[in-house]
Amino acid sequence: MVLKMISFTLNGKQMTYQGDASKPLLWYVREDLNLTGSKFGCGMALCGACTVHMNGQPVRSCSMPMSAIDGANITTIEGLQSKTGLAVQNAWEQLDVVQCGYCQSGQIMSATALLSSNSNPTDNDINAAMQGNLCRCATYHRIRAAIHLAAKELAQEA
Ligand code: FES
Ligand code: FES
Repeated sequence: MVLKMISFTLNGKQMTYQGDASKPLLWYVREDLNLTGSKFGCGMALCGACTVHMNGQPVRSCSMPMSAIDGANITTIEGLQSKTGLAVQNAWEQLDVVQCGYCQSGQIMSATALLSSNSNPTDNDINAAMQGNLCRCATYHRIRAAIHLAAKELAQEA
């Protein structure tokens, strides 16, 4: 059987993959690359713990087959070095958002994607953008505050 070569960029590096094209991206990053910041929660695109960026958009890597990332630009939490991504991570630290931490890389990836497209989101914008990222520790209030803080700090830097 001839397996198609899948080429993509991951955290700024050009990568190729030749293997089971139905393998979820989450298992590729966690098991093949040992990038374990993206978490397995539900495995059904329902909780957001596995969120990464594909061409700047938040996607659920547990439900994204390798075949779908051919030619794409993928960023995981380990490679989140954009100005917006760093501002979000800094705000998370300043407000001590994290409780158990399990959902938080997914939260940060979704928050960064939101601020990349909307530099001054309202609470409603935040609720809408973040509704697919569940937190069983209920850190939602601090997440919202940290997104506002990151937006403010990015505006001051601009
Ligand atoms: S593990 Fe991917 S959305 Fe829950
Ligand atoms: S911090 Fe524990 S699940 Fe979100």
